[in-house]
Amino acid sequence: MDKKILSHYNSAKGLADYTNKFKRHWTERLNNRHEQQLIRRLLRSALITSVDGVALDLPCGYGRRYPIVREVCQHVVESDWSFPLLSAAKACQQSKHQTRTGTGYVRTTVMSLPFIDGAFKFVLSVRLCHHIREHQERIQYFKELMRVSSGFLIATYFDSRSFKNRWYEYRRRFNRKRPKWTLDYQEIEELSRVNGFEIVASLWLSRFFSGHRYVLLRKRNARPLV
Ligand SMILES: C[S@@+](CC[C@H](N)C(=O)[O-])C[C@H]1O[C@@H](n2cnc3c(N)ncnc32)[C@H](O)[C@@H]1O
Repeated sequence: MDKKILSHYNSAKGLADYTNKFKRHWTERLNNRHEQQLIRRLLRSALITSVDGVALDLPCGYGRRYPIVREVCQHVVESDWSFPLLSAAKACQQSKHQTRTGTGYVRTTVMSLPFIDGAFKFVLSVRLCHHIREHQERIQYFKELMRVSSGFLIATYFDSRSFKNRWYEYRRRFNRKRPKWTLDYQEIEELSRVNGFEIVASLWLSRFFSGHRYVLLRKRNARPLV
């Protein structure tokens, strides 16, 4: 993992930067709403309306996606590397949702999750993969999420073949910025196959303006959700 990114998120400044991002910029608020709709579309596409079991939201950040997870599952584990963000998620959920029972909080790194195989019927992991510097670790990230999932997994990654990345790569010849930390759709397909999953659906956050891609994976031979 990139140590600078990890320690930034795990700081008061990281908390302030991330939470304010959505307050300050109307474009981010729009993105946020759009992403919410996109996750709901993915859930509907696989008929995920009610999950009888436990869901994992990792990284939960300050709990931006908690309401969506709660819509489909009564028992949720909110998890993140950052103590400040995890505390913010807990505080927000306790005030807005009147301390909903059935929600737990775990501070951990996604690289080595302290959960048994198949612990969660539904796993949501939004906007972490593109922060992981090493290719091998991005693969490990997906493997860990699949290991703890016994039903569905929704995750995002930055797609190497996206228009945004190709344009970025072209410009890199002149500006010498670091490459984006990407994965290829075929790698996700292969990872899914090897780990007993299949891709049910995938959606771009935006075809031209974002390289982020959502994938919805289902464990092969998974038991029904309810
Ligand atoms: C861009 S935020 C996304 C948070 C949330 N999913 C959302 O959409 O609002 C990235 C999050 O990843 C967390 N994070 C970074 N590295 C991590 C790791 N190795 N394990 C778990 N969480 C990590 C950060 O603390 C931060 O909350």
